Amino acid sequence: MQAFPGKIKPAVALIGCGTVGTAMGKLLVDAGYRISGVATGNLETARGAAEVTRSEKFSDCPWEVTRGANVVFITTPDDLIESTCNRISEHRGFEQDAVVIHCSGALSSDILSSARDCGAVVASLHPLQSFASVDEAIALVPGSYCTIEGDKVALPVVRQVVQDLGGILLEITAEKKTLYHAGAVAASNYLVTLMHLALELNESAGLPGDISFKALLPLIKGTLSNIGAKGIPDALTGPIGRGDVQTVAAHLKALKKAAPEFLPLFRCLGLYTVDLARAKGSLNKEAADKLVALLGPLWPA
Ligand SMILES: NC(=O)c1ccc[n+]([C@@H]2O[C@H](COP(=O)([O-])OP(=O)(O)OC[C@H]3O[C@@H](n4cnc5c(N)ncnc54)[C@H](OP(=O)(O)O)[C@@H]3O)[C@@H](O)[C@H]2O)c1
Repeated sequence: MQAFPGKIKPAVALIGCGTVGTAMGKLLVDAGYRISGVATGNLETARGAAEVTRSEKFSDCPWEVTRGANVVFITTPDDLIESTCNRISEHRGFEQDAVVIHCSGALSSDILSSARDCGAVVASLHPLQSFASVDEAIALVPGSYCTIEGDKVALPVVRQVVQDLGGILLEITAEKKTLYHAGAVAASNYLVTLMHLALELNESAGLPGDISFKALLPLIKGTLSNIGAKGIPDALTGPIGRGDVQTVAAHLKALKKAAPEFLPLFRCLGLYTVDLARAKGSLNKEAADKLVALLGPLWPA
């Protein structure tokens, strides 16, 4: 299937006009697409999104705007994607051959399968980014990886959409999406958790809160740069990588006294880091065994 025959850009409908839906609409209209309609739960929100995306129609009823659209984005919260798609299908709201897309990272395109009853094809397109606002999403989608999977006939259209959004294409299978999303959670959400741990320990150490993050930032950036340059495990530095058993023992003692609530997380990360140090080859067996004895076991057998 040729993505857009004759280079005519398709008519796009957006269902769910929050951060991602509105930003997708704005980026697509700027790329020459026609936004034929937008619908969201609240009519005033739909009106605002219609202004931003220069949409021809807005509604609080999805199937009023999906009829006539060649591409439909369902950008509601994840838990509502399947039921929203089902309701549109029940009202015969999808055109034959329309491409129906959701943007969830964790869910596969299979949750849109009811759209196939109308003769539509389905796909998912996940921007691998974290967006706090519409403006941020408009700025960040171009240059971000966009992970896609779906029906074979839908994919040429979705690839074209990613290219027009300025995204970088990454293809995956439906079965692997949840695992892929768990990786994204580790890289983004758990990084926040790790920073929280570091800042709390700094606070316990008496560092002023307003400079604590600033002081850590060059270290964080240096570590990311090392990972980019050397990869893992070679980028690993620090006491576990060097086999400094007494330093690790002192850390655990200090945490036990000042911040015992963080000990399980700190020990768990330490044990995992011992494995990385072993893989790097920087740890002899004696030091590794001592570190494992210090840090584990985390849970009774
Ligand atoms: N934000 C991110 O960082 C990010 C990144 C990558 C992917 N995603 C994915 O993008 C999708 C949308 O996320 P988001 O962050 O844009 O969420 P959001 O800002 O909460 O927007 C969701 C929108 O859906 C509308 N909505 C709720 N129920 C609806 C219904 N029954 N019918 C029609 N519209 C409905 C809501 O508007 P009303 O209240 O007016 O109904 C709301 O504006 C999700 O699948 C998410 O996983 C998000």
